[in-house]
Parts: sequence; C-alpha cells; structure tokens
Amino acid sequence: MTETKIYHIGIQSRNEIVSHAAKTILDGGLVVFPTETVYGLGADALNPRAVKRIFEVKGRPTDNPLIVHVSSINMAATIGKDIPHLFYDLAERFWPGPLTMIVKKANIVPDITTAGLPKVAIRMPAKDIVLDIISTAGRPIAAPSANLSGKPSPTTVEHVIDDLSGKVDIIIDGGQCDIGLESTVIDVTCNVPRIYRPGGLPLEEIEGIVGTLEYIPYSDGKVLSPGQKYRHYAPQARLIVYYGPGYNDVIVREIKKHLVLGRKVGILCVEEHRDIYNKAGASEIICLGNKADARSISKNLFAALREMDKRGVDVILSEGFEERGLGLAIMDRLMKASEQVITHNTMVENNEGSH
Ligand code: TXA
Ligand code: MG
Repeated sequence: MTETKIYHIGIQSRNEIVSHAAKTILDGGLVVFPTETVYGLGADALNPRAVKRIFEVKGRPTDNPLIVHVSSINMAATIGKDIPHLFYDLAERFWPGPLTMIVKKANIVPDITTAGLPKVAIRMPAKDIVLDIISTAGRPIAAPSANLSGKPSPTTVEHVIDDLSGKVDIIIDGGQCDIGLESTVIDVTCNVPRIYRPGGLPLEEIEGIVGTLEYIPYSDGKVLSPGQKYRHYAPQARLIVYYGPGYNDVIVREIKKHLVLGRKVGILCVEEHRDIYNKAGASEIICLGNKADARSISKNLFAALREMDKRGVDVILSEGFEERGLGLAIMDRLMKASEQVITHNTMVENNEGSH
C-alpha cells in the first residue's frame, strides 16, 4: 500500500498542489490528474522505473504503449525525431486539446514508455494545472487513463479513488472531465495520416486541415494500435448495443424478455426516449443527454457504465448513436465495452469470451 494524498483544486492552493505533484514526478512517483478528456495516471516519461510502476498499478499489458504529455510544442520536439510539418500544423491548431500525435521517438524516451515501439504518442492536455505540473517538473509525463486495465476510463475523482486509492502517491480532484472520452490518436508519420483511435477531437475537424485520413473502424475487426486489441471500458454487466431502424421497439421487446426471466435491466438512452423504456418496465434508466447533444452523451458515458455496475444490473441495453462528430468515438467505446452489437436486427457477436 502507498499512502495516497488527495488534493482538491479550489480547496488547497494551486502552488501547493503543483509543487508537490512536480516533486513527486521527479522522485519517480505516481500522480493522478484531471484532464479535459479523462483522468490520467502520470509518471516521469523518461524514468523507466517510474513508468514500470504505471503498468504494475493498472495491471496493463506491457505491449500497450503510453501517451506522453507535454506542456509545449518545444518539449514535444525533444522527445520526437524527424517530426513532419503536419505535426506542427496540427499542434498549432488543436493543442492544447484532445489530440494525440504519433511520431518517431527520440533516444531519450525509454523503450518501456513506448512498449518497445520506435514511435511515441504525444499530447498537450487542455488543463492549466497539468501544464503547470509538467513545466515545473521540466519533464514530459507519461499517462494512460487512470483506471484499472479493462475498466471504463475515470471521468470523476470517485472513479479514480475506486480504482487506485492506496496505489498512487497523489490524486488531484478536478471535478468531472469535460469531454469524458479519451483523445483522438493519429499517426502523422504516414503519407496518409492514420487514425488509431477516434476520440474527443472529431475526425471531421482534422480532415479540414489534413484532407484525407486513413481510418479503419473498430467494427472492421482489424487491429492497428496495440491498445485496440484489448477489451476495454467494460462494465461487469453484459452490455448490448442496439441501433438501426426500429431499435426502440427492439429494446422494448428485450426489456420485457429480461424482466420475465427475473433480470435487473439497465438502459442507456437519450432523454427523449426515457418514457418509452419506463413504460416498458425498466427501472434503472440513465439518460446520457439530449439526442442532439453529443457533448453531454460523451461526457456522461463512462460514468454511466460504472454507475450501472453500482446499481447491480444484470444486463445493460444501450441505444446506439450516429457515427459522426463525437458520435464516432462514442460508438467506438460502446462497441468495445459490449458483448453484442445489434444493428438492423442483425446480431454481431463481439468480444466473445474475453469478459
Ligand atoms: O485522453 C487521453 O488520451 C488520456 C489522457 C489521460 O490523456 N490518455 C489515454 O491513454 O487515453 P491510454 O493509455 O488509456 O490510451 C493510449 C492509446 C492506446 O490505445 C495506445 O495503444 C495508443 O494510445 N498508443 C500510445 N502510443 C502508441 C504508439 N507509439 N503507437 C500506436 N499506438 C499508441
Ligand atoms: Mg485507457
């Protein structure tokens, strides 16, 4: 057990938090901090022993590389090599923000940080206190999402405490994360830049600058990035996602079937559809937001998956979302967390046996 110090932004002084966190990073410790996407579990990216602790604490497979967080484009340039122009164009436009870029790595980045890969993923998060910690430490910080491997990424400090209390040195409470889904990951070393993970920055916005992108949706079953092959974000209950024509009716039928079998059913849906499922007899309904409000849906999704487990439901039936804008990342996470995706009344088995 490690003694975990919890700080609350707005209660303790910012200077106190920043200086203790920066010192802890330089001492090889672990600091959990909020970002605009999800909470991150940070360590000195250039200290292999500190980075090893991240993998141990999360129970993360060692072939899954970490994102390195920087406080400036200059700092990014010290950990990359042969960095293409496009990297700088995108950084100017979207940093700080939910965009992670992959470039060739410089020798100072230890192999463990990139899981032995010759490339490093870099991001500048849009959270001032984190940028202060990085610049005060004067070190780039490696940080995966601050959840135990396989669980939904944490978007509130309670999620972090559930997973990591007693395992890290510092947890910084910054309230609920704004975006609620992880950053978009793009490899800018290829001729046609390649999206490894859709995320908080919609692909349409990147396309506005880059032109064509290569993106292979998760549902195609091909694995490009090491992180994509693991079952992710998974709640304990079975999650089934429904979309396509008539999906409301299919969910209503399913609710009734599960209730007859004595199962406790959870529903994830948009506000406009609450009554439909309420009338069908579902008691555990979490509305993620209004239909037109993708930001609210993304912000609430991971918290809702964790909440369903707290409520002890046996099965979660979720509405699907249109795969455009933030909806693409929302559906990517839902599909990765699910056991089945049912579209146009066709069933696709998903993640079988990997629960
Ligand atoms: O929003 C985020 O990106 C959050 C916050 C904390 O910044 N971080 C995050 O980290 O989501 P993590 O470790 O949970 O996800 C990193 C993803 C994984 O899918 C990993 O495989 C991929 O980025 N990745 C990292 N480095 C890579 C590399 N060199 N090549 C290919 N994929 C890489
Ligand atoms: Mg993660």
